[in-house]
Amino acid sequence: MRETELKQPGEVIRRHGPWTRITHWLWAICVFFLLLSGLQIFNAHPALYLGRQSGMSQGFDNAVLRIGAEGGQGAAPLRGVTQVFGRDLDTTGVLGLSGPDGAQQARAFPAWATIPSEQDLATGRVVHFFFAWLLVATLAVWALASLLNGHLRRDIWPGRRDLRGLGADIRAHLGGPLPHGRRYSPLQRLTYFVVLAGLFPLMILTGLTMSPGMDAAWPWLLDLFGGRQTARSLHFLGMLLIVSFFVVHIVMVLAAGPLNEMRSMLTGRYRIRGHAAAEEE
Ligand code: HEM
Repeated sequence: MRETELKQPGEVIRRHGPWTRITHWLWAICVFFLLLSGLQIFNAHPALYLGRQSGMSQGFDNAVLRIGAEGGQGAAPLRGVTQVFGRDLDTTGVLGLSGPDGAQQARAFPAWATIPSEQDLATGRVVHFFFAWLLVATLAVWALASLLNGHLRRDIWPGRRDLRGLGADIRAHLGGPLPHGRRYSPLQRLTYFVVLAGLFPLMILTGLTMSPGMDAAWPWLLDLFGGRQTARSLHFLGMLLIVSFFVVHIVMVLAAGPLNEMRSMLTGRYRIRGHAAAEEE
């Protein structure tokens, strides 16, 4: 179908091909399980460091984040404490100390945020590695299919036109009506590009850097990320960015018209709206 045919407001077009839809839902599932099993793994040693080693057993402190419980002796009640760059924050109830009153547990992330709920590092690792490899395979299939069917060039790879239109598009996302055309808006393209070509590969590479077997096979990974501890901190930071993307992504789907958006990612069919139909000219 040619773009010049897509000018009628209300016309239903085919927005997403089958590979885009299948891979999208696969990585949404992967990200869900990776997040919750990753928090389980983090709980086994709830601190992050910068550098090639943790200073814990070496007598120096290079921690950038630490989540734990303090107090509980004498009159001082037990409380959850999150330390970020040396600053203590009271996070009782969510981080460090959580659970129902009278049965609170000292654990970094609460039971509802981990897979499995109870502390079980071995199961957490099995789940994490399974979905990590599924994500690698999904990303590889998406990249190959998108290269062959033109989705990468047409919809994802940001061009000059997108960079020029970015300012106006950011303003539109901050208040005006969202575009509903055939193409992704410039901000959408850039965001998806950063997630697919930046964040996902960063998560995969920093994940591999934490594996002793991979360090032996590819020692350049340790040089690239400045050591296993820095790689672990970057992996955590990448997780926070993906969670932030997810929250904004869902808000945008709701703002753009959830039924039309969901239909497009499930069946491929999408209804063009009035002002966007004119933009296709
Ligand atoms: C953490 C999980 C998720 C990630 C990483 C993610 C990522 C992405 C990416 C990269 C795209 C562009 C895909 C492409 O064009 O090849 C996309 C599109 C889309 N996603 Fe997600 N997504 C996630 C979860 C969800 C969920 C839960 C929903 C539904 C509520 C959703 C709804 C959509 C829709 C409707 C589009 C198409 C937007 C449009 O056509 O304008 N996503 N997502």
